[in-house]
Amino acid sequence: MRHFLTLKDFTKYEILEIIDIGLEIKKNLKLGIYKHELKNQTLAMIFEKSSTRTRVSFEAGMFQLGGHALFLSNRDIHLGRGEPVKDTARVISSMCNMVMIRTFEHSKLEEFASFSKVPVINGLTDTYHPVQLLADYMTLVEHGMEKNIVAAYVGDGNNMTHSWMMLAAKLGFELRVATPKGYEVSSAVLDEVQEIAKESGAIIKMMNDPKEAVRGATVVTTDTWTSMGQEDEKEERIKIFKGFMVNDEMMSLADSNAKFLHCLPAYRGLEVSEEVFEKHSEIIFNEAENRLHAQKGLMVWLDRQR
Ligand code: CP
Ligand code: NVA
Repeated sequence: MRHFLTLKDFTKYEILEIIDIGLEIKKNLKLGIYKHELKNQTLAMIFEKSSTRTRVSFEAGMFQLGGHALFLSNRDIHLGRGEPVKDTARVISSMCNMVMIRTFEHSKLEEFASFSKVPVINGLTDTYHPVQLLADYMTLVEHGMEKNIVAAYVGDGNNMTHSWMMLAAKLGFELRVATPKGYEVSSAVLDEVQEIAKESGAIIKMMNDPKEAVRGATVVTTDTWTSMGQEDEKEERIKIFKGFMVNDEMMSLADSNAKFLHCLPAYRGLEVSEEVFEKHSEIIFNEAENRLHAQKGLMVWLDRQR
C-alpha cells in the first residue's frame, strides 16, 4: 500500500504513470465512457482549511469512478475538538477505502498516514501541495510543453514552491525560484531537492530578483502571497512583495511562447495582474479542471498498488 504525501516518495516513472492514467480517464470522460474502477469505495475527505477545487475535484472524481466521497470539516468531526490524530486515523481507515487530508502541519498528515490502514492523500499542508503539481504537469503535457521546461516561480516560498521544486527535481527540469528576502523556501526542503536533482540532472536555483528568474522561461507561475493561516500578515506581505507581481512587463522577459500557470485562487493586482491572468485564462482553467482528472489517475493508481 502507498500513500501520496509528497512527490519525494515517487519516482519519475510513477509520476508519469499517474498522469497517463489521468489523461486516459479524461479522454474517456469526454467520450462519455465511465469505468467504475473504484465502485463501492469511499473516500474520506478531511478539511481543516477552506477549499473550492480540492473538495469539488475529489468529490466529483470519486463519484465518476463509481465511489462515494465524505466531506468532513474539522468543525464536524472530533479531530477539531481534540480527538487524537492517531485515533481518528484508525477509526476512519477502518471504515473508508482512502483518505484525503488538507491540514496545517505536514507532520500531522504523516502521523495520520502512519496509523492509517488505507492510502492517505495530501490535499495540501503548510509544506506541500503535490496533487496540484500532478494537474500542473498534466496541463503542460496537454500543451506539448513538457520537453525542455525552464520554469520560473515568482513569489512566496510556500507549499506550492516546495512542490514545484520537488517536481523539477524528480523530472529533471530547470526551475528558478524568486522570492523576497526573508520569504525564501524551507532550507530543509531545498537540501532534499538538491540531493534528488543530482541524480535527475535538474537545475534548481534560488534568487531574490524576479526578472532574473523569468528571463527566457517557458513556464511562469506564482501563488498567493498570503497562504491560508497567514491572514494576519496580509498587509505587511503586500508591502514586502511589491515588485513580485507577474505583469505584462515581467512576462515580456520570458520566452515568447511562455505560458503562465496559477493554482488558484488568484488575487489580481497582487501576485498577478488582471491582464496576464486573462491572457492566460484558458490554460489556467484547464489546469484547474485537470485537478479532477489527475486526481482520478492518482486514486486509481493508489488502488492498484494494494
Ligand atoms: N488550488 C487549490 O488547491 O484550490 P482550493 O484551495 O480551492 O482547493
Ligand atoms: N499557498 C496557498 C495555496 C492554495 C491552494 C495556501 O496554502 O493557501
